Amino acid sequence: MSQKEQWSSRLGFILAAAGSAIGLGAIWKFPYTAGQNGGGAFFLIFILFTLILGLPLLLAEFSIGRTAQNNAVDSYKTIAPKSKWYRVGILGMITSFILLSFYSVVGGWIIVYLYKAVTGQMYGLSSDEYMGVFGSTIANPFISVGVQLLFLLMTILVVSRGVEKGIEKASKIMMPALFILFTILVIRAITLDGAMEGITFLLQPDFSKVTSQTILEAMGQSFFTLSVGVSVMVTYSSYLPKTQSLPRSAISIVSLNILIVLLAGLAIFPAVFSFGLEPGAGPVLLFNVLPTVFSQLPFGMLFFIAFLVLFLFAALTSAFSMLEIIVSVISKGDLEKRKKWAWIIGLAIFVVGIPSALSYGVLADITLFEKTIFDLADYTVSNILLPLGSLLIALFVPLKMKKTALYEELQLGGGLKKGLFETWYFLIRFGAPILILAVMLDALGII
Ligand code: PFF
Repeated sequence: MSQKEQWSSRLGFILAAAGSAIGLGAIWKFPYTAGQNGGGAFFLIFILFTLILGLPLLLAEFSIGRTAQNNAVDSYKTIAPKSKWYRVGILGMITSFILLSFYSVVGGWIIVYLYKAVTGQMYGLSSDEYMGVFGSTIANPFISVGVQLLFLLMTILVVSRGVEKGIEKASKIMMPALFILFTILVIRAITLDGAMEGITFLLQPDFSKVTSQTILEAMGQSFFTLSVGVSVMVTYSSYLPKTQSLPRSAISIVSLNILIVLLAGLAIFPAVFSFGLEPGAGPVLLFNVLPTVFSQLPFGMLFFIAFLVLFLFAALTSAFSMLEIIVSVISKGDLEKRKKWAWIIGLAIFVVGIPSALSYGVLADITLFEKTIFDLADYTVSNILLPLGSLLIALFVPLKMKKTALYEELQLGGGLKKGLFETWYFLIRFGAPILILAVMLDALGII
């Protein structure tokens, strides 16, 4: 996609940006991280961070991208020439690279489930048996690495052709379908016996369980689900025409995201408690719970297959954005180069991701700081690199962009009230840097 190419509509942009945002973060990562961090209080802190940090940062990335109309690295160069700020974009590329290396592992798990569901292997088992099937499948090195590669191949194929043609059309059908299916799933989950305990777990905050680590993880989770701190949203918004309102787009994306997180929580936790499963089971949580909930539905297998297709789609649209940011910097709008680099980078990510894929099997015992390779990659991205990238973006905007120019950019395509702009500016200038630093230092035990 060359810099001059643009989304064919505001909807196209929203769908692609929302597609980047909505993915494994809301559906897979949120439930397991909330489960490990006590539930309700984590959820509440996550929502709070999403509103006071995530939303303003998303808007900050949008303003950078559309002002500069360039890729994740050159946007910083355009706005702040002869400075080192472009390194924020490079940090984003590195973050994206590591992120996709383990993200694709989970993408692969979805493919495994899809295969098993379609071939009738996911039918009529007990909850323990489902867990057994899943556990032994992802422990198999050939399967876990194979499906990771398959997921990456799909990502490479789309990105090598230019993202917008593919995603715009498909998203228009897949996203609404995902919402509908999730709603059906929630209705089934909250009417299970013993569902109330799960609802209480998610919605009733118990602050005695909150530690500085919980706060850091809630912040990381809010950046992760909104794809902020990586300059992915800088890249995407550079393709958006000046006639469209950035604040409106940001608000729709944040609302959609919160809704999906809530739906995922309400689908998973009632079922976890109803079936007597362990909410703190970690990254495998969703995969342990899903087949059992679906088997409780009439035509459950059909719904399960439909859900997995949509889930895979949601994961892919996020994966596209991760590869896209790297490829768009390197290929600079040249179509031939784009093809070549999408393959080179995609395959490099595959190689780097292999140890993560093996973390649930042959490399399960290899740990550092008590974390497997997979967990370590996830933790580094979510709780170190995303906050760091976000912090730098929050510093860049007020330091390198003029307040009046920012107001004009954010005004385009629909009136933005001055008061709201001032609130946003305050949150970016003071709120975000202070809060992010405080949360990070607190988690390190420094303050
Ligand atoms: N927001 C995506 C999700 O929730 O699955 C993950 C993500 C995509 C994070 C792209 C960061 C990013 F740059």
